Amino acid sequence: MNPKANTRFGHAGRLSPIRALLILCVVLLGVLPVAAQTDVSGFWVLNVPTGDGNVMKTFFDLKQSGDQITGTAWIEGRKLAISEGSITGGKLHLVVNLSSRDPQHQAVYEGTAQEEKFRVVVHNPGGNVAVGIAARTTGDAMAPPPRLPPPALHEVPENGLVLAPPMGWNSWNKFAGRVDDVTVRTMADAMVASGMRDAGYTYINIDDTWEGLRDAQGNITGNLKFPNMKGLADYVHSKGLKIGIYSSPGPQTCAGYEGSYGHELQDAKTYAAWGFDYLKYDWCSAGNIYQDSDLQAVYQKMGDALLASGRPIVFSLCEYGHGDVWKWGAKVGGNLWRTTGDINDSWQRMDEIGFSQFEIASYTQPSHWNDPDMLEIGNGGMTADEYRTHMSLWSLLAAPLLAGNDLRSMSEETKSILMNAEVIAIDQDPTARPVKKISEQGPLVVAARLLMHQDLAVGLFNRGDAAAKVSVTWKELGMHGKLQVRDLWAHKDLGKIADQFSAQVPAHGVVFITVGH
Ligand code: GLA
Repeated sequence: MNPKANTRFGHAGRLSPIRALLILCVVLLGVLPVAAQTDVSGFWVLNVPTGDGNVMKTFFDLKQSGDQITGTAWIEGRKLAISEGSITGGKLHLVVNLSSRDPQHQAVYEGTAQEEKFRVVVHNPGGNVAVGIAARTTGDAMAPPPRLPPPALHEVPENGLVLAPPMGWNSWNKFAGRVDDVTVRTMADAMVASGMRDAGYTYINIDDTWEGLRDAQGNITGNLKFPNMKGLADYVHSKGLKIGIYSSPGPQTCAGYEGSYGHELQDAKTYAAWGFDYLKYDWCSAGNIYQDSDLQAVYQKMGDALLASGRPIVFSLCEYGHGDVWKWGAKVGGNLWRTTGDINDSWQRMDEIGFSQFEIASYTQPSHWNDPDMLEIGNGGMTADEYRTHMSLWSLLAAPLLAGNDLRSMSEETKSILMNAEVIAIDQDPTARPVKKISEQGPLVVAARLLMHQDLAVGLFNRGDAAAKVSVTWKELGMHGKLQVRDLWAHKDLGKIADQFSAQVPAHGVVFITVGH
C-alpha cells in the first residue's frame, strides 16, 4: 500500500463521517460525465458527414461562464457569433444566426456529452437535420491556409463567348445541396421537352455541392452524387445543350465543399477534360485569405487558367458586387459578374435587387454582363404579376436569364413567363444598350432601353401594393409623333398612339411595351 495514501486518508478503522463524505465526493466526481464537470471553453470541431462522401467541418471557439456559453462559430467559411449558448447536465445548446437580414435563419446545435466529445444534432434552416461528433481541437486547425500571393495585374484576352446574355438553368435556387446527377440529366431532358432550349436557354449549370475530394495527384473529383462528370457532360451535350460547373477561388465553396485554392490551373484543365462549357466562380472562403482589393488579381488567375485550358469556357464571377466588379470584371476575362448578394424567392428581395441596378447598367456590353443573380420564376414564392416584373426587369437590364426552378414540372403560366419570346428578344438585343430610368414617382417606375432598330422597350412598373395608373410621354423617351405600341405580355399591337402612353398596372406588376415607328 502507498504510505502517502495512508497518511492522507488515515486508517480504515478510524473513518470519521466527514472523511467518509469527502471520499464519496471524490468517487462520485470520478464517474460523472467529463463534460458535466469540465469547462467546455476552447476550440471544438464538429464533423458532420454529408452523405455524399464529404464531411463538413464547423469550428467553434467557446467561452463558458457558469452554465452560459458565448463565442464564435466558423460555418461554411464564415465567422459568426454564437447568439445563444448554454450547458446543463452534459447537454449543450448553441444557436448561430446565419443571416443579418433574417433572424429566423438560424442553425441550432443540440449536443449530448459522450466522454470527451459531444454527439451533436444540427437543426439547419429549412428543417434539414444532420448529426455529427464534436471534439476538441486547437486554434491552428481552423486557421485558413497561408496566403498565396496574388499575381500582378494584366488584361486577360477576350474569349469571345456569350455575345448576348447567357440563358440557361442553374441548380441552386431550387435544389441547393440536393442536386445530383439524375436531377441534372432530367433537367436537360426537360429543357428540351418543355421548349426552353428552342426558346434560347442553352446552359445547364451545376451549382455548389457536386465536389468530392482530391485524388493523390490533387485532381478534383465529383462526390457520390456525381459519380461520372464526363458522362454527365456528354449526356447534356447530346441534348444540344451546354453544361456549367461551379467552384471557388477559396479553399472551400460557400457550402463548405472543396474549392480551387492553389489548384486553379489543374481544375480548369479537369473541367475542360470533362467537357464543361461554363464556370461560376464564387468568392466564399477566399474572403478569409484575401481582401476586396485582391479580387481582381485572384479572379484573373482563373481567367488565365480557363484560357490556358484550351476549351472555350464562359467565366461567371460571383463576388456579390464587391469591389466595384463592373469596373474590372471584363479585364479578368469575366463574361458575367454578380452585382448583388443572393436573391431569394420573395417579392421584397427581387424588387430590392432588380430596381437597384440602373446606375451600373452602362457597364454591360456584349460578352461582359452585369449579373443581378438567377431567376426565381416558377419557384412559388411570388405571384404571376411579380414574376412578370422579374422577367421584364431582368430583360431590360440585359441580365443573364438563368432559370432556377424545376423545369420538369412547370405550370403553363411559368412557361408563358420564361418562354415569352418577345421579352427574351429584349434581353438578347444585340446592341446591348444600357437601360435608363425614365421616371420614378413613389412606387411607379418607368425604364426604357433602345433596341437594334431604334425601337424602345419600355417597362411601366408598379412597385406599390395597390393597382395604379403609370404613364410615359414620348417626350420623356426622346421621341415624338404617333408611335406604334405593342404590349409584350398581352402579345397585342395597341396601334399608333400620339404623345404618351398610360396603363393601369397591377400591384407589383408591369406593363411592358415596345414603342417605335
Ligand atoms: C453563394 C452564391 C449562390 C450559390 C451559393 C452556393 O451564396 O451567391 O449563388 O452559388 O453560394 O453555395
